[in-house]
Amino acid sequence: MKNKLLIIGASGHGKVVADIAIKMNKWQSIAFLDDDKGIKSSMGLEVIGTSDDVFTHIDEYEIFVGIGNNATRQRIHEMLETVGASIPVLIHPNAVIGEQVEIGFGTVVMAGVVINCCTSIGKGCIINTGSSVDHDNKIEDFVHISPGAHLAGTVKVGKGSWLGIGSVVSNNVNITSGCKVGAGSVVVKDISESGVYLGIPAKKENN
Ligand SMILES: CC(C)(COP(=O)(O)OP(=O)(O)OC[C@H]1O[C@@H](n2cnc3c(N)ncnc32)[C@H](O)[C@@H]1OP(=O)(O)O)[C@@H](O)C(=O)NCCC(=O)NCCS
Repeated sequence: MKNKLLIIGASGHGKVVADIAIKMNKWQSIAFLDDDKGIKSSMGLEVIGTSDDVFTHIDEYEIFVGIGNNATRQRIHEMLETVGASIPVLIHPNAVIGEQVEIGFGTVVMAGVVINCCTSIGKGCIINTGSSVDHDNKIEDFVHISPGAHLAGTVKVGKGSWLGIGSVVSNNVNITSGCKVGAGSVVVKDISESGVYLGIPAKKENN
């Protein structure tokens, strides 16, 4: 393990990521990269360059993508994997993780999250503040479970899907890849076609 951490993205999501990294107390120094050259520091941590500079830091730093957009996070994460970067998992000390839970690298688990037993979470995911992911879920790579979303048991969420703030997914439901589930929406049946799903019960938006 390297004793320095570099977070790509110094705005809202990146700041929460940095906050978790500070609380984990694993790295002697933490810095950011951000493509906005006007940002010199964030959270009291230095911005030491733009994302193009990442290659010069790979030997010295562990690297974490602190970008909320699923597609952008996936693109940068996959590039980092290709060049052999060390990518950690970040778990807030006040998250509760059950037995036999697997969490992929590049995933952040935020404060107040509960992940129950026998669930697998892919790489590059965001399990956001106060959400819960119950037993035997399978969350694929680059998914974002927004703050306060709740997934019952044996839910599957496909690659790159985004469950909005306060959304709910009933037990035994499969949501395919590339979906957006709106804030506060409740998914009670399988979603097998990518798209935006809204409301209670969640229905496909038709535009
Ligand atoms: C689903 C979402 C992405 C749609 O955004 P959008 O494509 O810009 O859609 P619009 O805001 O133009 O809304 C389109 C229609 O859907 C409705 N709508 C939007 N979100 C809705 C929701 N969550 N539940 C029910 N209806 C919703 C709007 O009222 C609008 O209806 P109208 O055409 O009758 O006026 C967005 O509304 C949403 O819920 N985002 C989640 C945000 C979130 O969780 N953030 C957490 C970040 S950590």
